[in-house]
Amino acid sequence: MNYNKKTVKDVEVTGKKVLLRCDFNVPMAKDGSGVITDDKRIRAALPTLQYLLEQGAAVIACSHMGKPKGEVKPELSLKPVAVRLSELLGREVMMANDVVGEDAMAKAAALQPGQVLLLENTRFEKGETKNDPALAKALASMAQLYVSDAFGAVHRAHASTAGVADYLPAVSGFLIQKELEVIGGALANPKRPLVAILGGSKVSSKIGVINNLLEIADTIIIGGGMAYTFSAAQGGKIGNSLCEADWQDYANEMVAKAAQKGVKLLLPVDTVCGDKFAADANTMTVNAGEIPDGWEGLDIGPKTVELYCNAVKDAGTVIWNGPMGVFEFPAFAKGTEAVAQALSQTDAITIIGGGDSAAAVQQLGYADKMTHISTGGGASLEFMEGKELPGVACLLDK
Ligand code: 3PG
Repeated sequence: MNYNKKTVKDVEVTGKKVLLRCDFNVPMAKDGSGVITDDKRIRAALPTLQYLLEQGAAVIACSHMGKPKGEVKPELSLKPVAVRLSELLGREVMMANDVVGEDAMAKAAALQPGQVLLLENTRFEKGETKNDPALAKALASMAQLYVSDAFGAVHRAHASTAGVADYLPAVSGFLIQKELEVIGGALANPKRPLVAILGGSKVSSKIGVINNLLEIADTIIIGGGMAYTFSAAQGGKIGNSLCEADWQDYANEMVAKAAQKGVKLLLPVDTVCGDKFAADANTMTVNAGEIPDGWEGLDIGPKTVELYCNAVKDAGTVIWNGPMGVFEFPAFAKGTEAVAQALSQTDAITIIGGGDSAAAVQQLGYADKMTHISTGGGASLEFMEGKELPGVACLLDK
């Protein structure tokens, strides 16, 4: 795929103040200790940051964290990110106490080439998620150039991800470029066969992706909670399993569309069920569509694992988005683990959508065996749906 947006390499950055939008929305320990449990997104921002600093830019970094809904919530402060970023960069990262308030403005004004300032959580400002032009203008007023490297947030048309580009020349960093080139390349010109593995709990959240991939993929594999909606739609017994009754017709339509297009659509042939949704549930394995009352499907069964792993073996490209079962519970992690392992062993290009599947691959220890693990959950999903991403559309074309 030809990446047609200007990057930091296409513009002069030396001596400039650069507003750099990152996605530092990282998972934090639940105990309020400020410990970052996965710093992948911070590491992913380093190449662009380092480049800008080496070129003599002054970098004003910003990001959202969580959903504070326009209120200052100390537990969603970016202060722990500034500490981690400083460790990784090996240089001081100054922290502003606000986003576009007095402190941020004063620190940004005093910032020198080679220095880094991190603004507070952009969602502490009410205007952020509303893409308020006043906030976008205030952010832009601190800098001479806007660089977006927040791939995880490019599906949001917010003041710091899109609006600001109305007031400053706007280019991308290396992370957005890499994500779009790798995922976009796999969609536009895949090494075939292209196998898409789609899991997660809801059909409704994957409609766009299934629909788009039916036009592109050779094989689509369905797992996770959404498989039970397909099973129910085909008249199967699914006990207490997750089911989106309103989406059953759609599920049947997708099966018919796959047949008509000659796309192989694989559904589970067996299921590991639990008698409750809990780590210590009693378990049993049954054929798909034969889940007894009082039980619920929580993972794909061993025959399905074999079927799915075989489908991956000779693939040219595999795109995976969404776990096969409730992998947080060890008793129901086998399906997800087997798929991750199969992907780690294939010669195919392996692309893991962000969010749960990325977490699963990391948790299971296969992260370094994958070609690409996206830093975007919703963003990678919307990109795979073929939707326009506002945080990319606003950047200057080459
Ligand atoms: C993510 O975690 O997927 C991104 O940071 C976007 O976050 P959001 O869903 O809160 O907009």
